[in-house]
Amino acid sequence: MKRALPLLLLLAATAQAATSAPAPYRQFDPMEDYLPHVKGDMSLSGSYKHWKDPANLDWRMAGNPEENWKLNWKFMDPPFNASVHGGHFAADRGEEIFHELNRKAGRTGKFATCLGARKGNLKGLRSQYPMYRKDLRHVAGLEEVIEHCAAKEGRELQNGSYDNSAVSVYVASQSTGMPIKINVTSAGPLKSAYERGRKVFHARAGRINLACSSCHTYQIGLHLRGTVVTTPYGDVAHYPVYRTRYQLQSLHLRFIECNLATRTQPLKPGSQAYTDIEVFLTGLTNGYPVSVPSERD
Ligand code: HEC
Repeated sequence: MKRALPLLLLLAATAQAATSAPAPYRQFDPMEDYLPHVKGDMSLSGSYKHWKDPANLDWRMAGNPEENWKLNWKFMDPPFNASVHGGHFAADRGEEIFHELNRKAGRTGKFATCLGARKGNLKGLRSQYPMYRKDLRHVAGLEEVIEHCAAKEGRELQNGSYDNSAVSVYVASQSTGMPIKINVTSAGPLKSAYERGRKVFHARAGRINLACSSCHTYQIGLHLRGTVVTTPYGDVAHYPVYRTRYQLQSLHLRFIECNLATRTQPLKPGSQAYTDIEVFLTGLTNGYPVSVPSERD
C-alpha cells in the first residue's frame, strides 16, 4: 500500500497532464516596431502613400542603390511591366477556362456568381479577397474559391495548379488598378483570421527557427541568394505572379517556397494557416492597386 500511493499520485498527475496538455512552446518575434517603420502600419491606416514616394525609400537598405526599387515595388503603378510576359499568357488561358465554366450547360453566369461577382461583373472582385464564404463556412482566398466553384461545374481545378492560378490571374486582371479593400477591423471571421495570421507570421518554426517576420521585417533589402527581401506591404496585390525563373506562382506557392527555403514543413495551398497569413498580408496591403498580370524574377 505504501508503495502504491506514489504510483497512484504519478498516474493521477499523468492523467491530468493528458487532459490539459500545454500548448507547444513557441517563440514569437516582436510584432510591432517594424523596420522600416511605416507610420500606422499595424493599425492598417494604409502605407501605400508612403511607399509610392521613392523619396521615402531608404537607399542604404538595398545595399546597392540600383536595386533599391526592389525593396518595395509598390510605388510602381500598373502596368509594372508593359511588355508581353508569361502572366499575359496565363490571363488568356484563365479567360478561356473561365468562359468554358461560366457557359457550361447553358447556365450562363453560374461560375461568376459562385466566385462572388454581382451580375456577372468581375470588376473589383479581386479587391475583396480573401473573404468569408457562407457555403464553405470559413474565410477563403480566391484560388480556393476557384477550386470550389469549378468543382460545382464538374471540373477539377486544384488549388496551386497552373490552370487554377491562370483563372485567378484572369479574374484579378479585371480589377487591375483598383485598390485592395478588405475589412479586418470590424469584429468577425476576417478579423479573427487577420489576428491568427499576424501571429503565425511572427511565429518561429522549422529547422533554423525562423519566422516569416525574421526576414520580411528585419532583413528587408538584404540579398538572399540573389533575391531581395521585400516588406510585407503591398506584395499580395500582384499575385498570382509570373516568375521568369520559375513559372506561374500563386501566393500560397510562394509561401511554400519560403517555407522550403528555411527548412520549415510547408502546408497545402488553401490550408487555414496559409489563408490566415494571406489575410494578414492583405490587411497590410489595403489601399494598394491590384497589379495583375505581373512578372517578377
Ligand atoms: C530566410 C528569409 C525568409 C523567410 C524566413 C521568409 N521569406 Fe518570404 N521571401 C524571402 C525572399 C529572399 C524572397 C524573394 C524576394 C524576391 O522575390 O525578390 C521572399 C519572397 C516572399 C514573397 C513574395 C514577394 C514578392 O514581391 O512577390 C512573399 C509573399 C513572402 N516571401 C512571404 C513569406 C511568408 C508568408 C513567410 C513565412 C511563412 C516567408 N516569406 C518567410 C525570404 C524569406
